[in-house]
Amino acid sequence: MQTQIMVEVRDLTKTFKGKNGADIQAVKGISLDIRHGEIYSLLGPNGAGKTTTISMISGLLAPTRGDARIGGHSITKEPLQAKQLLGVVPQEIALYPTLSARQNLDFFGKMYGLSGSDLSRRVDEIVDFVDLRERQHDRIETFSGGMKRRVNIGVGLLNKPQLIYMDEPTVGIDPQNRRRVLDTVKRLQQEMGMTVLYTSHLMEEVQEISDRIAIIDHGEIIAEGTLGELIQQIGEEDRLTFKVGTQTVSETLLARFQREVEGVTSASYDRREIADEDSTALAHVDGVVTIMAKRGRKALPDLLRIADDAGLDVLSVEVREPDLEGVFLHLTGRALRD
Ligand SMILES: Nc1ncnc2c1ncn2[C@@H]1O[C@H](COP(=O)(O)OP(=O)(O)O)[C@@H](O)[C@H]1O
Ligand SMILES: [Mg+2]
Repeated sequence: MQTQIMVEVRDLTKTFKGKNGADIQAVKGISLDIRHGEIYSLLGPNGAGKTTTISMISGLLAPTRGDARIGGHSITKEPLQAKQLLGVVPQEIALYPTLSARQNLDFFGKMYGLSGSDLSRRVDEIVDFVDLRERQHDRIETFSGGMKRRVNIGVGLLNKPQLIYMDEPTVGIDPQNRRRVLDTVKRLQQEMGMTVLYTSHLMEEVQEISDRIAIIDHGEIIAEGTLGELIQQIGEEDRLTFKVGTQTVSETLLARFQREVEGVTSASYDRREIADEDSTALAHVDGVVTIMAKRGRKALPDLLRIADDAGLDVLSVEVREPDLEGVFLHLTGRALRD
């Protein structure tokens, strides 16, 4: 069976004019396909171009170059047809604070042309779906960030879209509500058969919910695939980190780790001075040895023996199995968190 493509993005580009007249290349020729019924994530640090991409493929921002087709309809040339298939949950919460959750949904529902019993039935379904029945008549200004986010998701569902874009829907909300948002995303796919485009800078959640992932950095997609495919790119290596505090680590020792322990492909030492913001006291020093190794757990005893032999006191050990953080590090040389 041929896979149906829901969103087809080709050579999408956005160049903004900066304050000093210089060009800001926010999105640099992105192409991707989102398949019908999948959860597809754009993962990238702040400023990578996620919101700009979403704004262009939802018809809110004109591309400098390129286009996107939704269900075969060009977002630039046939915006009405394209937008009919689409619901958007923006990064910024756009609700009326002095109206209740239900009044907000009614208001936006009317903008989509719903009215009467159709509207009230739809709002009922949505209030249940986002689990806000008990609070539906309370004003938005009394809601927590997580609850507002759920109303926002509800607004995105009013026109019964086949496809929904969610731009960093878990930013600024507590862990419990975050959990609920992630569950909602999965239910959109499983119970409603929807296609979801999800963006985040948090690799844990992207890893958990996505069928496929595009890693975006400086306006470009630097890798794309399933979690398994992405991890294969870094050769299934575990990342071991040894905290060593203020001790120095010699090049000789790093070389010994690589030479004497099977599976070790690299060993490096980083020393970070972490300034204490609240005091003028001495910055505290965090020395870390990072070792990439195949079957890291197996390599660990030998590594620790060699460290001990060299007089290095390892204060703590962490073994991380291959993950998206590792993929990002491998591709960019930077941590995703930075
Ligand atoms: N309206 C704008 N004018 C100028 N620069 C912008 C504008 N919107 C975004 N940018 C810049 O484009 C880049 C990508 O931003 P954005 O798409 O918001 O990234 P993300 O959503 O991944 O954090 C950033 O460098 C940002 O400063
Ligand atoms: Mg953004």
